[in-house]
Amino acid sequence: MNIQFETHSADDALILGEKIGRHLEAGDIVFLFGDLGAGKTTLTQGIARGLGVAKEEYVRSPTFTLVNQYKGKIPVFHIDLYRIESPHELEDLGLEEVFSSEGVSIVEWAEKLFTHEDASLPLLGIERWIEIHIKIEQKDSRKLDLKTRNMGSTEHPVFALH
Ligand SMILES: Nc1ncnc2c1ncn2[C@@H]1O[C@H](COP(=O)(O)OP(=O)(O)OP(=O)(O)O)[C@@H](O)[C@H]1O
Ligand SMILES: [Mg+2]
Repeated sequence: MNIQFETHSADDALILGEKIGRHLEAGDIVFLFGDLGAGKTTLTQGIARGLGVAKEEYVRSPTFTLVNQYKGKIPVFHIDLYRIESPHELEDLGLEEVFSSEGVSIVEWAEKLFTHEDASLPLLGIERWIEIHIKIEQKDSRKLDLKTRNMGSTEHPVFALH
């Protein structure tokens, strides 16, 4: 199942992210796909807010650490894999632990996890996830497509946004 959204400003994206965040659950992994400047970080800021991360917390992409953790109603992990050049660089970062935790993980440049021989499965033992594809339409307009992967017939609460 999938849901489409449109946003027409960065503020719109924050509001949408917040709505999505309110419908996420402990253990959810959200993969964000989209070109440079598509709005992955902006959407993440909204999602974090929706998960109860305080307004004062400035959510921005993790640079050297790759993972930032925020305290929400459940822990929120923001991961940015932009700088990852080979799967080896994913080792020893403790990401398996993050992905199997009871937090919500949001991953920018999630395509870096799809280098497995079986291209339909991401690395690091991730079995089910939510993916959001963001497409730049015009300067401030974006189309977003959200789908769940391998979640079986159990409908995820995020589909209440449909
Ligand atoms: N509808 C929109 N949704 C999201 N961002 C928008 C929108 N309209 C304008 N913007 C602007 O586009 C930029 C998106 O930047 P952002 O850092 O969120 O993108 P990103 O996908 O994370 O980029 P990167 O690939 O560099 O990590 C911001 O300057 C934001 O204000
Ligand atoms: Mg970003």
